[in-house]
Parts: sequence; structure tokens; C-alpha cells
Amino acid sequence: MASDSMQRTLVLLKPDTIQRRLIGDVISRFESKGLNIVAMKMLRVTPELSKKHYAEHVERPFYPGLEEFITSAPIVAMAIDGLQAIAVVRNMLGATSGLKAAPGTIRGDYSGSQQMNLVHASDGPEAAQRELDLYFDAAEFCDYDPVLTGSLR
Ligand code: PPS
Repeated sequence: MASDSMQRTLVLLKPDTIQRRLIGDVISRFESKGLNIVAMKMLRVTPELSKKHYAEHVERPFYPGLEEFITSAPIVAMAIDGLQAIAVVRNMLGATSGLKAAPGTIRGDYSGSQQMNLVHASDGPEAAQRELDLYFDAAEFCDYDPVLTGSLR
């Protein structure tokens, strides 16, 4: 990382993004913002990976439905770098429920559901490290010098 305020966060495009053919639209938003995608892969989340990823929610009443959803079709996992990337990405997603997310956010513009809310992003530095480790090996991160065009510089 180039400076202390540079962060890396884990973003998942969930099954609804893939099934609704919104991968490109969502990725474009992150690129337009000036964030850097430094790793990306499509994969199928297994029940085991779901339980690790959502460890803090496995006892919640909604967890069985959440696991069924996240394992129902492929996802796209991405590592995204940028200044204050964790908060910036979370702000771009909007509130958890697409019913409450503000217009202009990804969920506010595309989702009307608490479960099918299109995108997951880490909610803090510790979660980001834990979640990045779940989806990527160190060798899969591709650092590069971006041409900085946005406000994130
Ligand atoms: S909470 O209550 O604040 O801890 O939950 P939150 O952090 O907002 O949400 C965590 C993830 O659980 C999903 N979720 C749900 N899925 C199905 N049904 C219900 N009722 C529900 N509530 C929360 C929500 O989509 C979050 O998924 P991620 O992947 O983290 O966005």
C-alpha cells in the first residue's frame, strides 16, 4: 500500500448481480469512482465457505435463507484498493436493504430486497483482512500503478 490511508476491501457480487447481468454495471461504478480492482474471480460459494464468511450471522434466524441464496449461483469476488476504500465502497452500496438504500447507491438503484442486495463489502479493516484471506491467496493480488483520474488521489 502506498500510504496509511490506502485500504484494500473485499467485495462480492452476489448471485443476483450475476443472474441479472449487472456485473458490468456494478464494476463500472467502482472504476468510475477511481478505485482499483486488484484481484477478481468467479466462483461458487460452498456452504462451508458461507458459514466462514457469515460467521457472525450463522445463529441468526435469517442465516439458512442467506446461505441458500449465496450458494445458489456463482458470485464474483474482488479485492478493491483505494483511499479509505472500505468506507467509500460501503457508502457506494447504500443501506443493507435495497428498500431503504438511498437512490444513487448501488442497492438503492438496483435492489428492493434485504437478502438480494447485489453486493457485499467488508465493514471494517479487520473484516476486510479476514474476508480477503477467505477468497484470495497473497499471490493473486495484482498491484499496479493506476492512471489517477478521480477524486481518490
Ligand atoms: S445486521 O443485522 O446489521 O447484523 O445485519 P447486516 O450486517 O445488515 O447484514 C448482514 C448480512 O445478512 C444479510 N441479511 C439478511 N439476509 C436475509 N434476510 C434478512 N432478514 C437479512 N438481514 C440481513 C444482509 O444481506 C447482509 O449480507 P451482506 O452480504 O453482508 O451484505
